[in-house]
Amino acid sequence: MILPYCEPYKIKTIETIRQSTRQEREEWMKNASYNMFNLKSEQVFIDLLTDSGTGAMSDRQWGAIMTGDESYAGASSYFRLKEAIRDITGFEYFLPTHQGRAAENVLFSVLVKEGDIIPGNAHFDTTKGHIEFRKAKAVDCTVSWARDITNRDPFKGNADLGHLEQVLKDTPREKLGCIVMTVTNNTAGGQPVSMANLRGVRDLADRYGVLLVIDSARFAENAWFIKTREEGYTDKSIREITREMFSYADAMTMSSKKDAIVNIGGFIGMKDRELFRKASTFNIMFEGYITYGGMSGRDMNALAQGLYEGTEFDYLSARIGQVTRLGEKLHAAGVPVQMPIGGHAIFIDAGKFYPQIPASEFPAQRLAVEIYLEGGIRGTEIGTLMADRDPVTRGNRYPELELVRLAIPRRVYTDNHMDYVAAAVQNVWEGRETVRRGLAIRWEAPIMRHFTVELDLLG
Ligand code: F0G
Repeated sequence: MILPYCEPYKIKTIETIRQSTRQEREEWMKNASYNMFNLKSEQVFIDLLTDSGTGAMSDRQWGAIMTGDESYAGASSYFRLKEAIRDITGFEYFLPTHQGRAAENVLFSVLVKEGDIIPGNAHFDTTKGHIEFRKAKAVDCTVSWARDITNRDPFKGNADLGHLEQVLKDTPREKLGCIVMTVTNNTAGGQPVSMANLRGVRDLADRYGVLLVIDSARFAENAWFIKTREEGYTDKSIREITREMFSYADAMTMSSKKDAIVNIGGFIGMKDRELFRKASTFNIMFEGYITYGGMSGRDMNALAQGLYEGTEFDYLSARIGQVTRLGEKLHAAGVPVQMPIGGHAIFIDAGKFYPQIPASEFPAQRLAVEIYLEGGIRGTEIGTLMADRDPVTRGNRYPELELVRLAIPRRVYTDNHMDYVAAAVQNVWEGRETVRRGLAIRWEAPIMRHFTVELDLLG
């Protein structure tokens, strides 16, 4: 018999979580204006809002925290982190930032200007936010079949190279800020990008003279998929694969809160000294001096250690194995989920779940509400609410898919927790015909509205 995947660690400390009654949850949800971000964490039993900053650090990471060097300039923690980043990504130059979006802010201050076009696979919402804030445009060139949840392509996060080339061809060179490839492709369902695709994008970047930036939040999970799914990579180590992935990029932005398993942190990696120098000025303005950015020495130490732990094959097999196990359970029960299961989350198709609810009533938000009411499980909407309004017409942008994301934190929940989640979602699935309406917006912010929106239930 093949032995099953198993976590390469054991539990040393625990945090108590509390069950609640449905009646309590109904009250809390109403008081939160049906916005998951407004719930208090004590009102949540299993928190799948995000896998960002919610992972469990190891004893070695906590140990590294005790030896952090808090010097303003030239801290040993900075050099320890620089070494880890060079080892795992190959980038010679780096700048620490307080999280991923700060890395975007600093790098895009150099690379993106008004009127620019920034193509790539699907940009994450903060990435798009930073592009649109600069009055530039993000163009999503993800392969079209990523939007067909039944399609089993092993690399549904890929960019459509034909589409990308068309955008590059149609845009004057001075308006091409950079290409951004997000690995894994969060928006498409945590779907990986193949090495062949990255190579293809690099080739286009060279031919059209444009820089390639990798948004790397889940780069290690992407490498695991390359190792297990792409021909020629089975015998390569995760770190050999990550180094090859980054060899195709001019720069990377990183949210360390995901694959590097820390609660806060980010960085920018760069090949070119000139780019590093330009970005340094913005880093000093927005984040902090170049040897700490927005991070404390202790946090840089924990991050350096986390980068190594997050790129261990056995750890990644257990982590992605747990996500897959939950996803396969839901799929077997008939729940429409994005297949194949991605790296960090399950994406449920609310359009198929509640076809009776029009997109203008936010069916995915309604589904997230129902999952919370059923089991105290907090997921997040990736649909019309998150897609925001068109910056020019101010009309709702209707994405092709209305999704609910259940993101699994790293090293936090057991498979028993996942079985509980599967049972709760199945119950909601069985009662799907009793839900008739969605929600209406009472108040919204002009940009990134889903974080603070206030909603009313329509019955
Ligand atoms: N890029 C990707 C692909 C992300 O998923 C995120 C964050 C960021 C950049 C921004 O990084 O949060 O450190 O500023 N994603 C989180 C999520 C918030 O829930 O998917 P950050």
